[in-house]
Amino acid sequence: MASTTPKVLTVENMNPHIREMEYAVRGRLAIRAEELRDELAQGATNLPFNKVVSCNIGNPQQLNQKPITFFRQVVSLCENPDLLEPEKESLVSQLYPIDAIQRARQILKDIGASIGAYSHSQGVPALRKSVANFIAERDGYPADPNSLYLTQGASAGVQNILSILTQNEKTGILIPIPQYPLYSATLTLLGATPVPYYLDEESGWSLDVEEIRKTVHEARSKGTDVRALVIINPGNPTGQCLEASNMQDILTFCHEERLLLMADEVYQTNIYEPEQRPFVSFKKALMEHPQRDTIELVSFHSISKGMIGECGRRGGYFECCNLDKGVTEQLYKMASVSLCPNVSGQIMTALMVTPPKQGDPSYELYQKEMTGLYESLRRRSKKLEAVFNAMEGVTCQPAMGSMYLFPRIRLPEKALAKAAELNQKPDAFYCDQMLEATGVCVVPGSGFAQKDGTWHFRSTFLPEESLFDEFCGHLKDFHANFMAKYK
Ligand SMILES: Cc1ncc(COP(=O)(O)O)c(C=O)c1O
Repeated sequence: MASTTPKVLTVENMNPHIREMEYAVRGRLAIRAEELRDELAQGATNLPFNKVVSCNIGNPQQLNQKPITFFRQVVSLCENPDLLEPEKESLVSQLYPIDAIQRARQILKDIGASIGAYSHSQGVPALRKSVANFIAERDGYPADPNSLYLTQGASAGVQNILSILTQNEKTGILIPIPQYPLYSATLTLLGATPVPYYLDEESGWSLDVEEIRKTVHEARSKGTDVRALVIINPGNPTGQCLEASNMQDILTFCHEERLLLMADEVYQTNIYEPEQRPFVSFKKALMEHPQRDTIELVSFHSISKGMIGECGRRGGYFECCNLDKGVTEQLYKMASVSLCPNVSGQIMTALMVTPPKQGDPSYELYQKEMTGLYESLRRRSKKLEAVFNAMEGVTCQPAMGSMYLFPRIRLPEKALAKAAELNQKPDAFYCDQMLEATGVCVVPGSGFAQKDGTWHFRSTFLPEESLFDEFCGHLKDFHANFMAKYK
């Protein structure tokens, strides 16, 4: 019999910040998608589709993207160092290329212990050095391994920096609208104040510094202590990629308005128009700015995105520039409370930044896999963009970068009325109907916030290429039926 003793901890008396926190990417729709997946696994035949396609989250390997061979070879050897014993050499060298074996040996030597041991709280020094070398090569300016923190995905780094920034509920952080909900959710959790600034959809989700300035002044006039600006570049969910000159303006703005800049650059290799709009890191932009020694910058990267897609391994890093020395000591204290980021994620982070070089035995395969994935992602992004733009009442900006499209949907009056009747936002209603009709799970624009009176949804373009036409066909059919039904 269930106990009748009242619970000590209840939803009513729990931390209200956690109760209020929302995270649409894994929200109600995603839960419903899992229920449908279970129904199918148990043999349900009454659904109008035979599989659930998770386009709600940038999680490539969930959609069967193959891991990069070299990376997995090295990590598997690190996981099982017995395979590196001299007596196994002849056997193992039949299965693994010599550079993977050598790399695994080097990494274990660098770690100096089993990967089952805690490491330095900022991450293994030698692995941080690899990251610093990568940044220096990428940007043409040096990076200091001591200013780097290896993290459990970019998320953990973002959460740490938002935590240390939050003095009290008046602390304001500028976040883009639409935004990736990690930011709004973490700010809710911390009890800080999100200060939204709007990206302009019509001009390809561009960012206007003077508009942000107005937002800052207005928030400050109401007593909010606005102290940081979050930029996601390339954008999620919007896919835009910043121009170098715009980045200089943003840095000048941060200097003038005394804002710390948080640059979320996890999609830095998902760039689909590299000639027209190459990726420039904010670290490089800072180094080319007159206030290079003043502006406080924290930039984030991850192993979850790019062509690697090792989301489940939880690896990434952040780099701090020009932070107060006392603050960096406090940051170190924060990192040390969690002891260390997981060592497998650290290894993958180091591999991401030091892939096989030309002439190495694994180079050719590595290049082939990376290029193949990149070209495929680019093709899929263009194809889905065209599908959306051909739909009645839908417009979609191209994805210059990232893994998402964020089409705007204009729904007929009857659909708006039906959504209101069901007490749903119109975009949530549309996405619900899509899931129930096709098994495709996307995220309503309201999960990322959007300009009032506009409705969107976000979809990844990650479904497998061999099934992509079929996937696009389902979306087209659904949309046509939806529009006909509610005309
Ligand atoms: C813009 C952005 N930042 C950070 C993250 C978190 O990534 P990670 O898996 O590295 O925590 C994501 C994940 O989708 C993202 O889209």
